[in-house]
Amino acid sequence: MTSFKTINDVIVLIFILSWGVGCHGQAETGIAPMEKTEREALYSTIQGFVGYWWNGSELYPDPCGWTPIQGVSCDLFEGSWYVTDLNIGPFYDNSLVCAPNVQFRPDFFALKYLKSLSIFNCFTSPHHFPISIPTKNWESLYGSLQSLEFRSNPGLIGQIPTSFGYLKNLQSLVLLENGLTGELPSNIGNLVRLRRLVLAGNRFRGQVPDSFGGLRELLILDLSQNSLSGPLPVTFGGLTSLLKLDLSSNQLEGKISIEFGKLKNLTLLDLSKNKFSGGLVQSLQELCSLEELVLSNNPIGGDLLGVGWHNLKSLVFLDLSNLGLTSGIPETFIELKRLRFLGLGDNKLTGNLSPKLEALPSISAIYLNGNNLTGDLKFSEGFYGKLGRRFGAWNNPNLCYPNGLVSPSNRPFGVRPCQQEVTLYGLDHDGKSKVSNGTLNQNSQFLASLGFSRYGLDGFWKVFMAETLMIVLGLNVLI
Ligand SMILES: *[C@@H]1O[C@H](CO)[C@@H](O)[C@H](O)[C@H]1NC(C)=O
Ligand SMILES: *[C@@H]1O[C@H](CO)[C@@H](O)[C@H](O)[C@H]1NC(C)=O
Ligand SMILES: *[C@@H]1O[C@H](CO)[C@@H](O)[C@H](O)[C@H]1NC(C)=O
Ligand SMILES: *[C@@H]1O[C@H](CO)[C@@H](O)[C@H](O)[C@H]1NC(C)=O
Repeated sequence: MTSFKTINDVIVLIFILSWGVGCHGQAETGIAPMEKTEREALYSTIQGFVGYWWNGSELYPDPCGWTPIQGVSCDLFEGSWYVTDLNIGPFYDNSLVCAPNVQFRPDFFALKYLKSLSIFNCFTSPHHFPISIPTKNWESLYGSLQSLEFRSNPGLIGQIPTSFGYLKNLQSLVLLENGLTGELPSNIGNLVRLRRLVLAGNRFRGQVPDSFGGLRELLILDLSQNSLSGPLPVTFGGLTSLLKLDLSSNQLEGKISIEFGKLKNLTLLDLSKNKFSGGLVQSLQELCSLEELVLSNNPIGGDLLGVGWHNLKSLVFLDLSNLGLTSGIPETFIELKRLRFLGLGDNKLTGNLSPKLEALPSISAIYLNGNNLTGDLKFSEGFYGKLGRRFGAWNNPNLCYPNGLVSPSNRPFGVRPCQQEVTLYGLDHDGKSKVSNGTLNQNSQFLASLGFSRYGLDGFWKVFMAETLMIVLGLNVLI
């Protein structure tokens, strides 16, 4: 949790530093030249969001010059100033903060050089003042708009307007944690310059449109935390630039597509908490850049033996818990030299545990609890000491550790000593219940500590900060 706090601090710092870049004003030499229509459109747009009390012409007579407005940036085009960036919501202490009954005024669409619109924590009243995204007029911004962001607006309801399909220059579309519903419009797939598409944390349903596979420049695709269903389009193999794909917490089903193997630059794949089935496909081993693979909580079934895990040389975080896997644990895992987290808990894995896992140089957590592993644990005492409770082997009734070889303080948690099998078996049962109740969600806590919290940070920051933190904090991330 401390590292999560650090992420926030870093982001706040970045915002503070970047805030110096505002209007390029022509200080004290009179009013910066600006068309009256542009100025009036700006005032009216802002007033719609913050309320009638806000009188722009009185408070900010020269909005691109000597009276800059917090959250508004301008640039010079053919001798006149135009608004290029508009940020509404409590980004900073003295930001423009929205009124309870917000309006999206049509004057907004007159800001013809607008490159970036960001509305954060503005429409907050889903019951009293719900508001929809305007369906019309987006075409008037098609040449200019590069970044469109609605974030943390629970009062923003309704569907994504199909007219977003006109915004051909859009590079970033972020609709994160709002109250949006309906199906994903397939013409979002026409926005071929998109590099970031984040639609997480809404109530979208239906299938992921095939057209999304045409977004060849996309780096980040995050559709997590919705109610999307059906199989993934086979066209996903076309997303060859992708670095991060997060589809977690939906109701997606079917086999994990072989097409994923084409995503050679992918560093994060999170398909957890869906209904994927049909076993682990071999093509997963072709994701040679992968650092984090999270498939947990899917009825995938099958075994661990069909995937050449040793090919995933960059893998740092591997979570395959609760997939219904039935096999032994292959020794190829020991070639994952960068692996820090291995989650195999709550499967039906059998067989002995190779003590070679101890040789994983970077490992900080192994969860094998809730399986049917058998035999003696043969790890060294130092290994148990290093991992502590992060060596999870409880709830494997036929597993034991050699009594006498491990000092009491380093005994693997929830595992019985071998010699006392018969007498301690019953006690162990009680122990197990307590253990599994007390140690839920190691994995999600780990993700949160990497900055993967679903609330607060969007896709780009998740990846960026997680990577940075891993590099900077090293093993401390896990503690
Ligand atoms: C803002 O104030 C000016 C003069 O102070 C006044 O003329 C104008 O009507 C006001 N505008 C609005 C929208 O209240
Ligand atoms: C994958 O990453 C490499 C190195 O960053 C880059 O040169 C290459 O263009 C990327 N591939 C695609 C398809 O974007
Ligand atoms: C666990 O494995 C043992 C044999 O190794 C087998 O007898 C037992 O039925 C298995 N238990 C479960 C719950 O699968
Ligand atoms: C957790 O504890 C409750 C009672 O405290 C018990 O009914 C339940 O079975 C326990 N869960 C597990 C998974 O052991």
